[in-house]
Amino acid sequence: MIKINSKVKEHINFITKFIERGGPNIHEYELIDSWFGKIYNEVKSGVLQVKELKCIRKFLIAVFSVETLIGFTLIKPHGYAGDYEIIDKIYQKHINPDQKFKKWDLYYNAHKASMAVRKRKEYFKNLVRILNKKNNNNSEIEILNIGSGPTRDIFEFLSEDGINNIHFECVDIDQKAISYSKNLCKAFLGKITFHHNNIFHFSTNKKYDLIWSAGLFDYLNDISFIHLVKKCLALLRKDGELVIGNISKDHKTIEICSVLDWIMYHRDKDDLIKLLSECVIQEDNMRIIGEDEKVEGCFNFLHIKPSNLSLNHNSKNNRKINDIFVK
Ligand SMILES: C[S@@+](CC[C@H](N)C(=O)[O-])C[C@H]1O[C@@H](n2cnc3c(N)ncnc32)[C@H](O)[C@@H]1O
Repeated sequence: MIKINSKVKEHINFITKFIERGGPNIHEYELIDSWFGKIYNEVKSGVLQVKELKCIRKFLIAVFSVETLIGFTLIKPHGYAGDYEIIDKIYQKHINPDQKFKKWDLYYNAHKASMAVRKRKEYFKNLVRILNKKNNNNSEIEILNIGSGPTRDIFEFLSEDGINNIHFECVDIDQKAISYSKNLCKAFLGKITFHHNNIFHFSTNKKYDLIWSAGLFDYLNDISFIHLVKKCLALLRKDGELVIGNISKDHKTIEICSVLDWIMYHRDKDDLIKLLSECVIQEDNMRIIGEDEKVEGCFNFLHIKPSNLSLNHNSKNNRKINDIFVK
């Protein structure tokens, strides 16, 4: 039995009206977005306490099964937010056929945040295609995918693009993610090497043409972010490129993610430029492609090519970074 006060009750009463009639229709999506926004802003301003937010989450967990996207996001059956399974459910636009839940999954899939996750998969596939096209002498292209999750992106590229000379290496800390990917990509296992490892402990003598990471740096604080950028830069071939996807500060995305307990470091372009230029890279040496350019949605893609880089080894933050222990 959940004990609720009047502030919580108001929010629960609002959402219950939609729950009782099987979820929102398309023209009501904005109302649900605003509900998430109201809760988020009330918590931020102190009108609602964190324990009251937890109470609302408990109510949602009691209503939504783990077989729904909202339920899965809140319940976190793998123990952490953004696991390979929820990401793949978003890629595949998972819909629970039960009439009680179907409209809620449709709402979740139509949300800007979910669309952006799907778009980052396309972004990756395009990057790989460009690299493949440029490969005139047909030499082997090496790609490292960090925090590779379900590898739906690699699976689709290999299924759609046929013959190529690309070898993928995937690093993921979650053994279940690796097993899932191996099964998904079983037709292509000759083209992919999997490493079950924490990227902060991963070591290799190899160098890569592309190092890609989406959905990992968003969970790293600034110090770990920079630490990993430096590690990746050292693993690139001369003309190689590091591309990092980081969720932006789009307010609708922050609001729904926060209420559903999917906590990340949202960074906009200026945050990324400031973060990197303080410790590692001057602004001229990076390119950030964000939602207002090629890719609509709420991710920024940070491109760094070490061929034209000068690392700022003497900055204060640099020393701090070398001193830390990263789990
Ligand atoms: C949000 S998913 C992103 C999956 C994939 N990159 C994509 O975009 O579809 C993040 C993945 O990073 C993995 N991960 C988190 N921390 C990690 C670490 N320190 N080293 C390696 N993998 C990590 C998680 O296990 C999870 O599979």
